[in-house]
Amino acid sequence: MAQIQAIKGFADHFQDSSRLFEMMEATAREVFPRYGFGELRTPLMEYTDLFCRGIGTETDVVQKEMYCIQDSKGRSMTLRPEATAGVMRAYIENGVHAREAVSKFFTIGPMFRHERPQKGRMRQFHQINCECLGPKEPEADAEIICMMMEFLGKLGLKNLTLQINSLGCASCRPQYRKTLHDWLAALDQDKLCPDCKRRMETNPLRVLDCKVPTCKELTAAAPVILENECPDCKAHFDAVLRHLDAEGVPYQINHRLVRGLDYYTRTTWEVVSNEIGSQGSVAGGGRYDGLVEQLGGPAVPGIGFACGMERLALLLEGRELPEVRPDFYVAVLDDTCRDAAFGLAQSLRRAGFAGTMGYESRSMKATMRQAGKSNARFTLIIGTNELAAGTVIVKNMESGEQREVPAGEAAGCLTIA
Ligand code: HAM
Repeated sequence: MAQIQAIKGFADHFQDSSRLFEMMEATAREVFPRYGFGELRTPLMEYTDLFCRGIGTETDVVQKEMYCIQDSKGRSMTLRPEATAGVMRAYIENGVHAREAVSKFFTIGPMFRHERPQKGRMRQFHQINCECLGPKEPEADAEIICMMMEFLGKLGLKNLTLQINSLGCASCRPQYRKTLHDWLAALDQDKLCPDCKRRMETNPLRVLDCKVPTCKELTAAAPVILENECPDCKAHFDAVLRHLDAEGVPYQINHRLVRGLDYYTRTTWEVVSNEIGSQGSVAGGGRYDGLVEQLGGPAVPGIGFACGMERLALLLEGRELPEVRPDFYVAVLDDTCRDAAFGLAQSLRRAGFAGTMGYESRSMKATMRQAGKSNARFTLIIGTNELAAGTVIVKNMESGEQREVPAGEAAGCLTIA
């Protein structure tokens, strides 16, 4: 019969990559609560409108990358392409803003974007995502960036660059947009790529992060947003940088960093690696002071970021993880011994040991081969003689030493290293 394959861009994670994911999650769960973040699990699917209003209809994510389905009543629902919009929806819907002045959430899980799969770019991928709602002060920006860098540092990742920019606010960005638009309009339009020609009218800032070399060259001298911001935005960004300097967090200001999602205001950043090919952005985030209001909630400012777990896993590949070794393997030499072997394995697990029984009864030679493959520290052998005597043979697989003990005392033998 024909085999059924996984959907393109959707991957299985067997133990090696699962353990890397587990390690990242454990690190997140250790670091984030020290900064006051608690876990929030939101649904994988939301009404499509949430993402259109939250992320922006002009973004690539909303225009080309969403997995949408219709329910039986014809309502459009979408597999979440990112976590932020869902977290905002949960925050507003549950009235969290009325109960607490500052709310900090982290979310870990799969996201879905219909992009062209390549190394580091999947259609189902995983994010570790953090959001802080409430404070407008620059200390919140610096704090969350420090937390993210601490998390990445604890994973042992070193050659990463933090790129940072400020995108201004509702009072200064419109003027900058106009300045940029007029500057772009004066260029030879035939030299801009079709995407940039369109974006110039819909969202001229996105022209700045076009990857097409001719566009990059043509717009190299474009007006810089940091030089066009209002005094409040300037003071905010200066304070963020001052805190990062004080904490010894290195960064590079990147005037062309505008991010692909529309909700950002003021501080925005990306963490980039040059060790994993073209998809080198391992984390990205920023402030989004108008988003909660735009989604029907109160005027609560916010800031957050997300790390891509598959990209972090690429950087962590080959990392020596602590060996996972079972404590025991219960070998069954005869069918009549299976009940005793099953009971023994269960009692050992109750005593806190990890291992399995060899389900099929086999010859001594075959069973010892299986025990060796299992990599267990001890093999426990039950044959007809041991069954009759109520004993079990405990073999230390390191030293080869073995002894026969009453079955009830087997657990005591496993503690000897
Ligand atoms: P983003 O930049 O779209 O931001 O995604 C964050 C990270 O997710 C990226 O830096 C990358 O590591 C990973 N990522 C994105 N797409 C893929 C993909 N197709 N395959 C593998 N990894 C991918 C956001 O999603 C924002 N919601 C972050 C945020 C939270 N901003 C504020 N709060």
